[in-house]
Amino acid sequence: METLHILIPRDQVAAKVAELAGRISADFAGESVVLIGVLKGATIFLADLARQIRLEASFDFIAVSSYGNAKEHSGEVRLVKDVDQSLEGKNVILVEDILDTGLTLTYISNLLLAHQPKSFKIAALLDKVSRRTAPIHADYVGFEIPDEFVVGYGLDFAERYRNLPDICVLDSEKA
Ligand code: IMP
Ligand code: MG
Repeated sequence: METLHILIPRDQVAAKVAELAGRISADFAGESVVLIGVLKGATIFLADLARQIRLEASFDFIAVSSYGNAKEHSGEVRLVKDVDQSLEGKNVILVEDILDTGLTLTYISNLLLAHQPKSFKIAALLDKVSRRTAPIHADYVGFEIPDEFVVGYGLDFAERYRNLPDICVLDSEKA
């Protein structure tokens, strides 16, 4: 049986997203940015973040596969969809739902850095610091969370629960 309980309610998420957008707007004042969302989990975060960023901004998306339908990282990352444009000379902000082991963002960061952007930053709504195996950190972090499996606000378990408005912990127990 699966049970859900709220870890971060929607109003706290909204306040944090506004704060991150404020920091990004200040850090890049007078410049334009390219927000690159990692499909599909980052879409809701990106949509909310982008609407509060007071800069000229464009979007792009990248898709990788790493988890399948399991909760544990398979250890390998595969590119499913690359960005549509060259990022050379651009201010790139990679937008991700959650940093866990860091394997996914390490792979994507290397891919994007090869474009030689003007600057490169990572915005991650959630950070499971204790799970990190790759030496990577996000420049803009929403919340550090404990090692629990979370869903909602874009995050899924086997493609379910992405549309939940709050960030919830998913507990699954075998009956
Ligand atoms: P990493 O490569 O281990 O850092 O994994 C990052 C990816 O794993 C994220 O983009 C998510 O898709 C997924 N992931 C990690 N932890 C969770 C979680 O608690 N809930 C849902 N997805 C997660
Ligand atoms: Mg993801």
